[in-house]
Amino acid sequence: MVAVARSPRRQPAQAELPAFAQDVVEGLSGTPKRIPAKYFYDAAGSHLFERITELPEYYPTRCEMEILRAQGGEIAKLIPDGAALVEFGSGSNKKVRLLLEAAPQVAVYVPVDISGEMLAQEAAALRADFPKLKVTPVVADFCYPFDLPAEAKAAPARVGFFPGSTIGNFEPHEAASFMRHAGRMLGANARLIVGVDLIKPAEVLNAAYNDAAGVTADFNLNLLTRMNRELSGNFRRDCFEHHAFYNRERHRIEMHLASLKRQKVKVAGETIDFRAGETIHTENSYKYSVGKLNALARGVGWLPAGNWTDARGYFSMQAFTLAEPARPRPAL
Ligand code: AVJ
Repeated sequence: MVAVARSPRRQPAQAELPAFAQDVVEGLSGTPKRIPAKYFYDAAGSHLFERITELPEYYPTRCEMEILRAQGGEIAKLIPDGAALVEFGSGSNKKVRLLLEAAPQVAVYVPVDISGEMLAQEAAALRADFPKLKVTPVVADFCYPFDLPAEAKAAPARVGFFPGSTIGNFEPHEAASFMRHAGRMLGANARLIVGVDLIKPAEVLNAAYNDAAGVTADFNLNLLTRMNRELSGNFRRDCFEHHAFYNRERHRIEMHLASLKRQKVKVAGETIDFRAGETIHTENSYKYSVGKLNALARGVGWLPAGNWTDARGYFSMQAFTLAEPARPRPAL
């Protein structure tokens, strides 16, 4: 098998094949077939995700909101005066609102998201409600390094905010390298606040990704609709099925789109063969323990500074401070 570099270190240049086309062609040419989970979030996908967060079975959003409401004051104590808050993958602003209400010392808010439309709307709403806050959105894929706005660089400290267990979409080694890079970007005196979904009984996890109303299935299948529209694909939604299950060995929910028959599909100028039952792996959602995330963070220079869970212990918010870089000892 040939190893393919899956994650270039830079934001893909504008002139090359769009990143989506590139990742789809690469991901569907290999075995097993896969597509990065970040491509769920076109306008329809973002809307479906908002509906997921309201489903009775999908507990993570409610748990995280509960933590922010109950412990926001404690979490806010870790944020220095005049700090810039940098949110990775902001999407809806309902979580950061709770944090901003608890932390009026935040001077600059930098939402970072690939969807420019969503960003502009949410920024306008926040400016209206927090008139003293400087809101400087950045349109970028936070999987790659990006430049912070001048206002954030000038602030006395920068605090990363990475809620929603989005960190669970990374492989653990990618999560570690993301945290390392976040530390470099946020710089001296940085803090990082991460929301992560915790390991729990498989029945609870399986239900959260197999809701009775079928919204998660629609969210998964929307990827086919998006490829049809943006990459001239001819996927038939009725020829694929939503599969989601908890992989106990690897502590992750896996989502797949399973081909219901042997078929050929065209997308981005390529023809892709599917065996009956063959799947496209569309998402991993890793579940952590508080200790495991702390250990991962320590390994890349972040010191655990606090953690808070909801009443059921389903979800955790964890704060970290950047360890001082080891300085050479002065010679005697
Ligand atoms: C946004 C990555 C946290 O993994 O729970 C929800 C996405 N996928 N239902 C998650 C998702 C299916 C979600 N994250």
